[in-house]
Amino acid sequence: MSDKKSIHGIWASRWVFIMAATGSAVGLGNIWKFPYITGVNGGGAFVLVYLICVALIGLPILMAEIMVGRRGRQSPVNSLIDVASESNGSTLWQLIGWVGAVAGLLIFGFYSVVAGWILEYAVEMGSGTFNGSNMEQVGNIFNALLADPGKMLIWHTIFTVLTMAIVVKGVNEGLERGVRILMPILFVLLVVAFGYGVSSGHFADAWHFMFDFEPSKLTAKAVLSALGHAFFTLSLGMGTMIAYGSYMTQKASIGSTAVLVVFLDTAVALIAGLAIFPIVFANQMDPGQGPGLMLVTLPVAFGNIALGQLFGTLFFILVGIAAWTSSISLMEPSVAFVVEKFKLNRLQACLVLGGLGWVLGVGALLSFNKGSDILIFGKNFFDFLDYVTANIMLPLGGMFIALFAGWVVKTRISREEMSITPLAHQLWLILVRFIAPVLVLIVFIYNLLQ
Ligand code: PHE
Repeated sequence: MSDKKSIHGIWASRWVFIMAATGSAVGLGNIWKFPYITGVNGGGAFVLVYLICVALIGLPILMAEIMVGRRGRQSPVNSLIDVASESNGSTLWQLIGWVGAVAGLLIFGFYSVVAGWILEYAVEMGSGTFNGSNMEQVGNIFNALLADPGKMLIWHTIFTVLTMAIVVKGVNEGLERGVRILMPILFVLLVVAFGYGVSSGHFADAWHFMFDFEPSKLTAKAVLSALGHAFFTLSLGMGTMIAYGSYMTQKASIGSTAVLVVFLDTAVALIAGLAIFPIVFANQMDPGQGPGLMLVTLPVAFGNIALGQLFGTLFFILVGIAAWTSSISLMEPSVAFVVEKFKLNRLQACLVLGGLGWVLGVGALLSFNKGSDILIFGKNFFDFLDYVTANIMLPLGGMFIALFAGWVVKTRISREEMSITPLAHQLWLILVRFIAPVLVLIVFIYNLLQ
């Protein structure tokens, strides 16, 4: 056992860690992104590949990240340095932490813009804009929002300030307090939306769309996005779970905790899909229409049920909160690092990094209107941020973490730290040493050749 202490604080209990890690994992990735990329990639086959990636790659890498963090008890960069040295490995492994910090900022750039849409929707829902509305009217409202940089800027700024306001308060006063009550409530409201999906009559179509396996629909692109999304949705490959692991109590078991986090995250994504697709099919919409999917379906659902205005408003507020508990985890690794490395206090670190994230977000929101013809590799800035992070930086970061945990960290240390059975540890070793890195590589090479 290592008796190091984190200078940033420690979660009060195992349960708080589960809440915080689930709060990080469950976010826009589950409720906004998963349904829309499932739609874009044709449904069932994509979902199956995603589930396989979560189980074979996501879970073992989640355990690896938590393990590295708890052993190092510092920001990702410094934990990697210490854990590498302890096993006589190269300190170059710290590069994973540097690239991860950058990835966190890039993700924040588009994440905060989408969170802004959600907040705007909460207000519109609350003021009754969507009552009795149909798909076309809601679609027009969404397009009008995208065409209005000023409005998006206000919400993006509010969301950035909200995020940094929590991060600045630190682990116990900030992060921990935020997640405790909000997560269960989100779950309940998701079930309400799901109930509407089930009762709307097109549930069977949705079910078939999500779970019928049609191999013909499986393109290389779809496999890459399923892989990338497994990392994105579990907050892997950029250091978040290393940072959160570094605040975990020594007693908590990494294995069972990680399984629970993965289970909750996957459940929320599937429920979100099963809430959204029945509405899509009931209204003859295109499931592959892209990022606006949830924003044009759920308002129709809530706008047409009893008490929908109330539940819908609560629902969007809670999606906003889910986004919030995720976005603080995007910033925490780099803030913790800057505090350690440059001896800044949390406020200074938050001002600098929050400022950077905010600027990236301004770029992202302009890419829907004034800046829509600025393309990077054929993508607007918003899509570019999403693509490079989820499909390239996170899988590569995760692959290197797997290699690091499997080959560099002494097996004695990983066994001691994870407190799982010898058999489970063996299995985990095979997954991080061989299966996960090889699968990531295959998907990458295959996509390059396409
Ligand atoms: N997992 C979050 C979501 O699904 C996004 C995220 C990615 C958060 C990476 C932190 C790190 O919304």
